Amino acid sequence: MEKYIVKGGTPLKGEVKISGAKNAALGILAAAVMTDQVVTVENVPLVRDSDVIIKALQSVGASIRQKEKNVFEIDGSTIKSVNIRYDQVKKIRASYYLIGALLGKYKEAKVALPGGCDIGSRPIDMHIKGFTALGADVDIMAGGIVWARARKLTGAHIYFDMVSVGATINLMMAACMAEGETILENAAKEPHIVDVANFLNAMGAKIKGAGTDVIRIKGVKKLHSVTYSIIPDQIEAGTFMAAAAITGGDITVCDVIPKHLESISAKLIEMGCEVIEGDDSVRVISKGRLHSTNIKTLPYPGFPTDMQPQFAAALSVAEGTSIVTEGVFDSRFRYVDELVRMGARGNLEGNTFYIEGVEKLSGAELTAPDLRAGAALVLAALAADGFSEIEDIHLIQRGYEDFDGKLRSLGADIVIITNEHDAQKFKLQVG
Ligand code: EPZ
Repeated sequence: MEKYIVKGGTPLKGEVKISGAKNAALGILAAAVMTDQVVTVENVPLVRDSDVIIKALQSVGASIRQKEKNVFEIDGSTIKSVNIRYDQVKKIRASYYLIGALLGKYKEAKVALPGGCDIGSRPIDMHIKGFTALGADVDIMAGGIVWARARKLTGAHIYFDMVSVGATINLMMAACMAEGETILENAAKEPHIVDVANFLNAMGAKIKGAGTDVIRIKGVKKLHSVTYSIIPDQIEAGTFMAAAAITGGDITVCDVIPKHLESISAKLIEMGCEVIEGDDSVRVISKGRLHSTNIKTLPYPGFPTDMQPQFAAALSVAEGTSIVTEGVFDSRFRYVDELVRMGARGNLEGNTFYIEGVEKLSGAELTAPDLRAGAALVLAALAADGFSEIEDIHLIQRGYEDFDGKLRSLGADIVIITNEHDAQKFKLQVG
């Protein structure tokens, strides 16, 4: 079993290049098979979730070739089946994008219900309601298989009860090959919604309004070949920005879109950091002990739920009391017990974490509960006194490309170990 071992206390400094956005990549890789022509996707993050979606597409016959490190060539013309088995997708939530993509193209999809991060109940009722509105019959069959099929899909006016990233992308995909116009109201506005829409439009789709809460889609009969580069990952960038804050460091995240990072930058400024925006970079300079602040997560352009654990970790060493409220998921605080074992102080009441900042955390043996919570524990370990070991790092690797390598390039003492001998060697090396 791989673990991270971390020696905390070093302020992280330097520049780090941000990879392509995982949550855009998952939609784009699925949508890439909606044409029978070859599609080239650049800036694909090499993370476990990308790998799962690629293998799921290959399992139904898509030909996918890694052309260069982050570049994949996808040929959907060789797809033989619309049946994606549970063992192919059990690890990721975004397997639901295979329903939208296959239903749009073949008018049928049989996809096992998604797994993914355990961050509370995560129904897909709005996806199903949307597909039904487009004219599909959707059944949940034995074994949790979603079977969606239609003789034809017809454009419809769909109002989402809640803002949902997944439902917005899924309906955009299916609707772009329906007959007539679809209007999605109360759509999500995250940067990756716009990226998937831009990708589909580059393939010949007619989507307008992505990035606002009303998206209009005129159906087309066919999509075509394209070469497309995925946008930088807002959450990976935000995680390194939080790393600068919590370790008292000075980090420049490069190859980013600063506009996507505004809510994160604003909080870091409230916490006493200096934030300098460049054209495609953001530099975060820590100015001593962090100040407390309050955070409420909201759909974009609000503060991202995917940054909540990392900021709670940073606020656990800030001066004063902070209040962190989760406004998107019904349970995303599974890291709190682990932080408390490191010496953090606070109370969790429902969806609100009241944090009483302490001067220092201490290293501990930790387990990553999910992707972002796991990243938050790594940040806490980097700021803590002494050594920490973090288990279940495969959850962190779902969404961060070469996380430990990038942290090491900023001066962090972190390596992956597989046994006690490796741990002892690391401890001797870093003292
Ligand atoms: C996406 O999940 C992301 N995943 C998540 O990223 C992210 O946390 C989330 O959006 C919010 O930004 C991917 O893009 C693959 P939602 P998703 O549908 O689509 C409720 C990460 O760490 N809801 O926007 O599953 C839902 O329960 C991950 O990278 C319904 O009730 O999120 C939640 O409370 C984790 N019915 C809220 O809506 C539905 O049919 C928002 O969820 C769909 C959603």
